[in-house]
Amino acid sequence: MRDHLIIFDTTMRDGEQSPGAAMTKDEKVRIGKQLERLRVDVIEAGFAASSPGDFEAIRAVAAAVKDSTVCSLARANDNDVKRAGEAVKGANRGRVHTFIATSPIHMKHKLRMEPDAVLEAAVRSVKLARQYTDDVEFSAEDAVRSEVDFLCRIFEAAIKAGATTINVPDTVGYSVPEKWGELIRTLIERVPNSGKAVWSTHCHNDLGMAVANSLAAVMAGARQVECTINGLGERAGNASLEEIVMAVKTRADFFKITTGIDATQIVPASKLVSTITGYPVQPNKAVVGANAFAHESGIHQDGVLKHRETYEIMKASDVGWGANRLTLGKLSGRNAFKTRLQELGITLASEEQLNAAFARFKELADKKREIFDEDIQALLSDEAVTPEVEHYRFVSISAHSETGEQPFSRIVMMEEGKELRAEARGAGIVDATFKAIESVVQSGTELQLYSVNNVTEGTDSQGEVTVRLSKNGRIVNGMGSDTDIVVASAKAYINALNKMSAKSQRMNPQYGEAVATGSAL
Ligand code: KIV
Ligand code: ZN
Repeated sequence: MRDHLIIFDTTMRDGEQSPGAAMTKDEKVRIGKQLERLRVDVIEAGFAASSPGDFEAIRAVAAAVKDSTVCSLARANDNDVKRAGEAVKGANRGRVHTFIATSPIHMKHKLRMEPDAVLEAAVRSVKLARQYTDDVEFSAEDAVRSEVDFLCRIFEAAIKAGATTINVPDTVGYSVPEKWGELIRTLIERVPNSGKAVWSTHCHNDLGMAVANSLAAVMAGARQVECTINGLGERAGNASLEEIVMAVKTRADFFKITTGIDATQIVPASKLVSTITGYPVQPNKAVVGANAFAHESGIHQDGVLKHRETYEIMKASDVGWGANRLTLGKLSGRNAFKTRLQELGITLASEEQLNAAFARFKELADKKREIFDEDIQALLSDEAVTPEVEHYRFVSISAHSETGEQPFSRIVMMEEGKELRAEARGAGIVDATFKAIESVVQSGTELQLYSVNNVTEGTDSQGEVTVRLSKNGRIVNGMGSDTDIVVASAKAYINALNKMSAKSQRMNPQYGEAVATGSAL
């Protein structure tokens, strides 16, 4: 029997700490359902104490997900632990993940606490968490820069207090594989009650070694890896789930360990997370990048055609490429549409929203013969915005571009029931469209990123546009999709403005500060 490696996904918590990647409750439920299809063992759905919205989102994920454990993060204080315990109470299996920093630099400058007080807070929090669930994880933030003796002390105490998983994070992405493996091995050897807990690793990618470090930890005895879809996460991101899973699967001869992951759900999960967060996947990204299985050179193409394994160590279909289901077509009815939404974990707030989404689906089916799951996900990415944050709504656009003429765009939109009309010229029709919108909205935001991706193949594909706006340090990503990329761009810009005007306060657990202070435009 091979050992089981627990896959702990933190896309909706650490991943959400990426600028602009904040997710709504409905989006978290959609991602949660997809992670369950992927057969992830543990889903960290958020940080309950960060905002009432995130608390509700975790509760909704806990209610929707049946097979995976649902977890909430909590700093090592009573309020956070209680909120986390309450948030996961409705889950079939709920976990509280409490943490405190243990490195001298964090204890002195951030916490302003003595090591003994840190240890006391950790023990108290683990004990309190055990009053809510038997499944309690304890993390020593910045373990990489902590003293090994202190780590041994605090981990021993946490296990004694009831922690069932001990997580060792490389919070700042500083380690290298040999050192990280050595640390995990030392801790397992030196902590007297180490056998009573599962050892876990959580690596950041600042030096591009998050996956390598996580795998070194596995070789040293870690049996849980914390990771995210597409490697999303703070700064340079976290260890990427798809790379960890496919490494241990493809090199089972070396790692001698298995995961419960259904790898055919990897690409759908990657696309969903990218759509919802507005973080595109780089084309040459391992496993989930558009080029990961593309062969450009003639020699490679020839080899692959003669015998696939000449240049491929994994099969594209094994990780979900080309597995996108042709779900619905022009003749599909409202019931079939509703059923497919449910299967995809998409719940719309009202019948009105369902009707609007169905109307958009029909419009799309008129323009595009084949509708795939990705099309539906993209279609819903701007539709799923809850009505209370729909301050502005796209109505129509007319744009003109002709060689030798300055491109022109005229837009009609609604602001809380009031019609706004505007027109402008620009460097191109997208630029003209954004200028037209800004001429009436005057948001004072700065455009940080504009990107277009095709949702499926072919020139009739929907274009999915991401617009990243910033204002006073706050960053939001807006998404829009349509077979016409100018329309998609206008929708994405308006979606970003709506997110910017939503009043959402969310705390970053590691800085203890609100990072997404909402302000009306
Ligand atoms: O990177 C980190 O240390 C974390 C902890 C909260 C586990 O994300
Ligand atoms: Zn982290």
